[in-house]
Amino acid sequence: MKIIKSVEEFKSLREAISPRTIGFVPTLGGLHEGHLSLIKESIKNNEMSVVSIFLNPTQFNNESDLATYPGSLSDDLKTLDSLDVDIVFTPSNEAIYPNGYNYKICEERTSSILEGEFRPGHYEGVLTVVMKLLNIVNPKNAYFGEKDFQQYILIKNMVEDFFLDINIIALKTIREKSGLAMSSRNNRLSDEARQRASLIYKSLLESPSDEHARATLEEQGFNVEYIKSWMGRRFGAVEIEKVRLIDNVSL
Ligand code: PAF
Repeated sequence: MKIIKSVEEFKSLREAISPRTIGFVPTLGGLHEGHLSLIKESIKNNEMSVVSIFLNPTQFNNESDLATYPGSLSDDLKTLDSLDVDIVFTPSNEAIYPNGYNYKICEERTSSILEGEFRPGHYEGVLTVVMKLLNIVNPKNAYFGEKDFQQYILIKNMVEDFFLDINIIALKTIREKSGLAMSSRNNRLSDEARQRASLIYKSLLESPSDEHARATLEEQGFNVEYIKSWMGRRFGAVEIEKVRLIDNVSL
């Protein structure tokens, strides 16, 4: 497994391995089973697989969320090595934003609802970094989790709008036994809260209405940011023990 930090080095390697088909899984680190399912799918369907680990500061609208984002690079690298990933790209902030954060990808419609409404600037940061990473890695296929369904739609539409020849593939949300969607943030919950957080999935799935789901979660002590249906799915963002969790289900 090759670990590359610089954009220039990545680009020359990319040139050398062309025209092999590349599968790409971008991550913020803190790898869990959800990421692993994307990586395994990439390995199965591409000649080479690249995973990026980059804790992108521009998509965090809350400093403490960025500062406490869980993850250990050395653990992640061990995991990726055991999966037979070909290349791991671990750039620094300076490598990705050499001239600062001056050029941004801004989407005007879908990014203003749900996560976009509650996390100003979040999707600008996500779309900008994903565009940069796709330009560097130049994959044939890129993999994203349905847990961030709105992100997946935004990236898919961006790639189409900017005429990039990249397939954006979404895979099902991987859940803990209790139903709680896998997330790096789950590690910040106490055992008790982690158990209780399974109610998020259950209420999104089983409630007769968005309002009902909200009421159920609030009764159980969750701080609910939003519960909303969109595109045949129900989305929710809630806080428990000051940890913000999101999930969505197909209705
Ligand atoms: O979903 C994520 O982990 C991030 O938003 C992504 C796509 C890696 C961009 O930083």
